Amino acid sequence: LPPEAFQRRLLDWFDTHGRHDLPWQRDRTPYRVWVSEIMLQQTQVTTVIPYFERFMARFPDVAALAGAEQDEVLHLWTGLGYYARGRNLHKAARVIVDEHGGELPEAVEALAALPGIGRSTAGAIVAQSRGRRAVILDGNVKRSLTRLHAEPGWPGRPAVERRLWALAEHYTPHERLADYTQAMMDLGATLCRRGTPECGRCPFADVCLAHARGEERRFPESKPR
Ligand code: ADE
Repeated sequence: LPPEAFQRRLLDWFDTHGRHDLPWQRDRTPYRVWVSEIMLQQTQVTTVIPYFERFMARFPDVAALAGAEQDEVLHLWTGLGYYARGRNLHKAARVIVDEHGGELPEAVEALAALPGIGRSTAGAIVAQSRGRRAVILDGNVKRSLTRLHAEPGWPGRPAVERRLWALAEHYTPHERLADYTQAMMDLGATLCRRGTPECGRCPFADVCLAHARGEERRFPESKPR
């Protein structure tokens, strides 16, 4: 599918079936998007929502977070799990205050240099909060793209990961970056799920190579052993 057709189908689907009322979609500041993306890294949306609201009430901006004790940050994280995420968030807030004048950096590379922020999360922050063109490739997007193209190989292999970044870049539009990025994550989270994808409702079912072969469950391939 040419990128323009891919984007149009995805955004049409998102406009009618995507999520538009998440707390971090209101008042999309870089800080709020950052915190939400870190919380969402290993945790589902419905679990994250109350944690996000409590976190924002207590730490409304980078300065409030940087000024807190680590114990208090981790206390608000209790129940979310993967506590390294909370520790890194706090560490990064201090770096942002000390080295970036209290504002999240605008560039993907500078964001990705902060503790706990990988390339995809950096892209998500730039696309969602600044509406600038940036590419994301999280677990959801990897799953959708490997299925669409029946892309072989374990995505942990550098050569496979490089191909997936190239595909993700190929499809990324020049407009509606925040919606496109959220739509890609929603597609993977709600339809193109790991266990039982809902291909019957997918806007790409007719062009998906894995679906054509009846092999959705084979992609992405798991780590060879
Ligand atoms: N997983 C990571 N980021 C997400 C987001 N913004 N929405 C839904 N799931 C996500």
